[in-house]
Amino acid sequence: MRPVGSITRGTTNPNRLRRVDRWIAGELGRALRGAADPLVVDLGFGASPVTTVELFRRLHAVRRDVEVVGLEIDPDRVRQAVALVPATPGLSFAHGGFELGPLGGRRPVLVRAFNVLRQYDEAAARTAWDRVAAALAPGGALVEGTCDEPGRVATWVRVAAAGPQSLTFGAHLPSLGTPARFAERLPKALIHRNVAGEPVHELLRAMTAAWDASAPHGVFGPRQRWLATVEKVATEWPVDVAGARRRVGELTVPWESVDPRGHQP
Ligand SMILES: C[S@@+](CC[C@H](N)C(=O)[O-])C[C@H]1O[C@@H](n2cnc3c(N)ncnc32)[C@H](O)[C@@H]1O
Repeated sequence: MRPVGSITRGTTNPNRLRRVDRWIAGELGRALRGAADPLVVDLGFGASPVTTVELFRRLHAVRRDVEVVGLEIDPDRVRQAVALVPATPGLSFAHGGFELGPLGGRRPVLVRAFNVLRQYDEAAARTAWDRVAAALAPGGALVEGTCDEPGRVATWVRVAAAGPQSLTFGAHLPSLGTPARFAERLPKALIHRNVAGEPVHELLRAMTAAWDASAPHGVFGPRQRWLATVEKVATEWPVDVAGARRRVGELTVPWESVDPRGHQP
């Protein structure tokens, strides 16, 4: 089968995806440890295979027999990756797209697709979610998101077979400046919805207002300011404040709280 999708810019950077990988290891580590087949896909690894190699190393620490397959729709990038990366048991690269063809029907417990859907239109991005999520193993997840070039500002959506579950914001707090910066790094499903009347717009406004109101906490450092921000936002939004993840500069809300108005599932 011909790979489904289109070749887009291959921009990537070493360590760019460390935030989402740390979240994956923490939040999805249990699913990976319990998976009958510990198969993971990095969909759209880009012009260099570096972030796939990093994902493999991070997940190998969670489960020694993890198998990571880097898929890319550009066959030249696959050839380069194969030539560049020393043969490593459990790590491979193949030519494929949203159909996950090279897996031959095996069901991955995790698919990470980062900075892949930005070049698609919103409807195509939703179709890609549905297609990939339908191919997951039971309890598996697609983690789809976007970040800036060095990976200091990122957002991602956890998508299960039943549909999108959560939206997470993650940032390097000392350089964040303002949560308004997340606006330009929203996933494709939300980036055009950052307009008055849409829930994600209201959430970003609430985060920015809470950050401004928490400025006095900044004397104790950006982490204290962020923690105060998350607590303020949680008075109006269903934010998970019990978890430890906010300490590393994250904020997660259930998808239903940001699902665009008028969206037809
Ligand atoms: C901007 S790069 C992202 C690289 C890396 N994931 C990162 O975040 O740094 C996007 C890559 O996704 C690839 N791509 C786009 N659509 C795809 C699809 N349907 N299946 C596989 N790869 C795809 C593009 O060819 C491109 O190399």
